[in-house]
Amino acid sequence: NIKMEGKKENGKEVKYFRLEEVEQQNSSKSTWIILHHKIYDVTKFLEEHPGGEEVLREQAGGNATESFEDIGHSSDARAIASTYVIGELHPDDRHKIEKPTETFVTTLNDNSSWWTNWVIPAIAAAFVTVMYRLYVAEHKND
Ligand code: HEM
Repeated sequence: NIKMEGKKENGKEVKYFRLEEVEQQNSSKSTWIILHHKIYDVTKFLEEHPGGEEVLREQAGGNATESFEDIGHSSDARAIASTYVIGELHPDDRHKIEKPTETFVTTLNDNSSWWTNWVIPAIAAAFVTVMYRLYVAEHKND
């Protein structure tokens, strides 16, 4: 059971596609999608898809893994899918479709919203305090 670069366990060659090639297959003439690093040519499946062809077109030429998994496709759906595999995404391009480390982005966003959430009320409170003191000072001798 030796895995080799470019070969499957059964000895069959794996066809690798670069991301650029996949991205070009986004028309009704040729519709490819990526699911878990595998490339699917769904051109002939578009009309048969129980979820409609529109959702597949929207993902054409790109990574549809998240949408595919969000729907929670049945094992039947996965079996159908496997008949449309034409190859795999080139290993050097896999990082390009990976989501950026979300926690990092989220942390930055959280920080910036904490900052503005805190500063704007603080400035408003300071302003009100100053106005109140001026008002009190002006009417002290009334
Ligand atoms: C080769 C790829 C795909 C195959 C073979 C496939 C197959 C199927 C099948 C057989 C169903 C019926 C329900 C089930 O058995 O789970 C289904 C439903 C559905 N699929 Fe796909 N699908 C594929 C890709 C996608 C993608 C990429 C999306 C989203 C962008 C999608 C969205 C949906 C939706 C929205 C439904 C309807 C779910 C419902 O009515 O409750 N599918 N698909």
